[in-house]
Amino acid sequence: MRILLLGSGGREHTFAWKIKQSPLCNKLYIAPGNAGTAKLGENISLDIMDNAAVHDFVVKNMVDMVVVGPEAPLVNGIWNYLRKMRSTSHVNVIGPSMQGARLEGSKSYAKKFMLEYGIPTAGYREYHAAKAQAAINFVRKKAVPPIVLKADGLAAGKGVVISPTKEEAEREILSMLDGKFGEASRKVLIEEFLSGIEFSVFVLTDGKSYQILPVAKDYKRVGKGDTGPNTGGMGAVSPPPFVDKKMMQKVEERIVKPTIRGLQGRGIHYQGFIFIGLISVENEPFVIEYNCRMGDPETEVVLPRLKNDLVEMFAAIQEGRLDEIKIEEDERAVATVVLTSGGYPGNYEKGKVISNLEKAQGSIVFHAGTKTNGDKILTNGGRVVAITSFGDTFQDALKISNKNAEVIGFEGKSWRKDIGFDL
Ligand code: GLY
Repeated sequence: MRILLLGSGGREHTFAWKIKQSPLCNKLYIAPGNAGTAKLGENISLDIMDNAAVHDFVVKNMVDMVVVGPEAPLVNGIWNYLRKMRSTSHVNVIGPSMQGARLEGSKSYAKKFMLEYGIPTAGYREYHAAKAQAAINFVRKKAVPPIVLKADGLAAGKGVVISPTKEEAEREILSMLDGKFGEASRKVLIEEFLSGIEFSVFVLTDGKSYQILPVAKDYKRVGKGDTGPNTGGMGAVSPPPFVDKKMMQKVEERIVKPTIRGLQGRGIHYQGFIFIGLISVENEPFVIEYNCRMGDPETEVVLPRLKNDLVEMFAAIQEGRLDEIKIEEDERAVATVVLTSGGYPGNYEKGKVISNLEKAQGSIVFHAGTKTNGDKILTNGGRVVAITSFGDTFQDALKISNKNAEVIGFEGKSWRKDIGFDL
């Protein structure tokens, strides 16, 4: 099979690593990829937001399967475009239609979906820019701090703000409705704050049947003890020990099954991943958000624990036999820590030489923001590499990752040494 993988982060390097293990993969292209994916397949320069350019590449290179890493091309309708064109209608695109991707692309849409299908989530109100005063009145009269504010649209992972006071919430609402996150925040959701511990569940579906992948927990805040601004994710563990069989049964019955029913009920074509961001509140699961893709850095711990052939699973989706697959999980724990550029998630410099990558012993180093320059590998993003390790416990795995985090070097390197601190 000839496979095109879209994206350039740690998630995509992990996909490439897993896809390359499949005997079903004859040729792997990654667009645009990074220095890590370049060792597993052919990196190609392609604008993944240009559906026509992706289509032309697929036709010219006789690609059979397109695996979409990030959400943006999905919200941009890559599935719909390739399906609509006669020359690519047979191609197996792993990623939902743009209608399915609205679960991530519009928080308002996702909330209405959850309400309609009885899926547990926090209470909310939503306000357009034209109703700014009504939003302020609601905060003054009804809201209880801390107040969760969410931009309706995609805001590069920055669209959620938790305001500790009503005054701060009022200022933030006005700024968001005024376009702080562009069009994405012209509609704002004001949500009830849920207190608990978060985890992530990943579902691979063909829109009818589904398989639940190994569960994970990521750490989004930049600082020790979950402090400071949000990032894409500073580290992850799988499995989080507090997510037991009983919890997963609740998640499957109350959340996964109604979500699949909802997709069918709305006639949405969905073949790909559903990433369900959850919070356990006194041992009851609530949905914080849906994403239409795998998580990053969760992928860096989920796929190493998945023993199945991923390409075989993708093929089963197209052949309508996903329900025949039996998921096999590695019993060991897996953890990853992310090395970041100095200043991330604020401004940071790129182009720093990364040293000692080959000296990391006992870990898999997934590249996130890297590029090749001659015989050197340079930093090329805020998150630079994710260092993944196995262990009998997540603490054992973290020890190995943290040791290798000391070994790999570049100017301005930073990482969280307390991943898993709350478990
Ligand atoms: N790690 C969170 C995300 O991928 O959205």
